[in-house]
Amino acid sequence: MEDVFLEVLELVRFRSYSRAKFLFGPEGAIIVGRNGSGKSNLLESISFLALGKSLRGVPDSDAAMDGGDGFGIYAKFGGEEEFRISVVYNRGRGKRIHIDDRPLRRISELLGKFQVVSFSPEEVHLLLRSPAGRRRLLDMLLSQVGGYVWYWQRYRRALLHRNRLLSEGKPSRRELRPWDLQVVKFGSEIVRRRMELVRWMEGKVKMFYEVLGGGEDVAVLYAPSFPVDGDILESFAESLDESTEQERRLGCTVVGPHRDDLSVRIGGRDLRMASQGQAKSFLLAWKLGEALFLCERSGRRPALLMDEVFSDLDSERSEALAGLLVGKGQCFVTAISEDEVPCPVRNLRVIRVDGRCVP
Ligand SMILES: Nc1ncnc2c1ncn2[C@@H]1O[C@H](COP(=O)(O)OP(=O)(O)OP(=O)(O)O)[C@@H](O)[C@H]1O
Ligand SMILES: [Mg+2]
Repeated sequence: MEDVFLEVLELVRFRSYSRAKFLFGPEGAIIVGRNGSGKSNLLESISFLALGKSLRGVPDSDAAMDGGDGFGIYAKFGGEEEFRISVVYNRGRGKRIHIDDRPLRRISELLGKFQVVSFSPEEVHLLLRSPAGRRRLLDMLLSQVGGYVWYWQRYRRALLHRNRLLSEGKPSRRELRPWDLQVVKFGSEIVRRRMELVRWMEGKVKMFYEVLGGGEDVAVLYAPSFPVDGDILESFAESLDESTEQERRLGCTVVGPHRDDLSVRIGGRDLRMASQGQAKSFLLAWKLGEALFLCERSGRRPALLMDEVFSDLDSERSEALAGLLVGKGQCFVTAISEDEVPCPVRNLRVIRVDGRCVP
């Protein structure tokens, strides 16, 4: 099996990079620099090539240098297949993405071409804080495989219409009916895929968590906002029907994938009680599971974008993690200094950034 790997990356007016060019090998790199030197920015730019947007979940305009007019990310890929991807954002014209010289009409045409699994310390907080953060964990992954985004876009549109009707007055069931049908149709597919993913992930997460040195038992379970009894579509339709009265009072849709959650228990306790280190190890185990998932679905190993993975892990956990990261496709790891990175990750090429990358 040969992977696709990011070979050349050029950034123009992207965050702290006025102009910069990086060359990478198939195994990846350690990105080294002091605080604020642009390490996370570099990983973020790579995420645009896979997702068409930032892994930070922020608007494109945030990434334009000093609030300027736009930015450009230009990449060349090698390996099993050679191609180029460019993502160019301009405040007036919006975002334009090309594969080779072909302009894409929608982001979904990009997804799957180059896949990434990312980890950042902020994500640990996001995950601990809210169901929305946990839903995002599922959605970011699933959107990299077949058609999920398509379902989301349709679900969101139907939900928006339904919520508008509910918030503007007390719509009759007949008025709501067309939107109910769509919400259920697209929403149940989202729930089905998320449930399938979580079931698949549970065993992998347990295994990686254990290898990472976590002694506790880990359980992950999809927690839908409505009781699923047999068929998902029918259960959703039934619950939506039953909640209509309440929804007319509240003015919004209260059941559906936008209200679901991922339940995580570590050592029998809810994730909210987990220590920082436990939460971090869980997220890392989940991310390693993600890499397996993408590999199984596409036959290619995704690139790993690992921001500050080794900081605040004890040396045993760090070494276990380093062993899991290498040999799993292209791997990008950030660090203040390469000395804090254990072998075999330490053998990766070192790329130094200093916040003033003008070639
Ligand atoms: N849109 C932007 N335009 C210009 N500079 C920006 C923009 N967004 C962020 N920066 C700058 O980028 C720098 C932060 O870069 P980054 O987060 O990549 O640092 P880092 O190397 O990951 O640091 P740390 O080790 O602290 O995580 C900050 O100095 C910030 O001011
Ligand atoms: Mg950083």
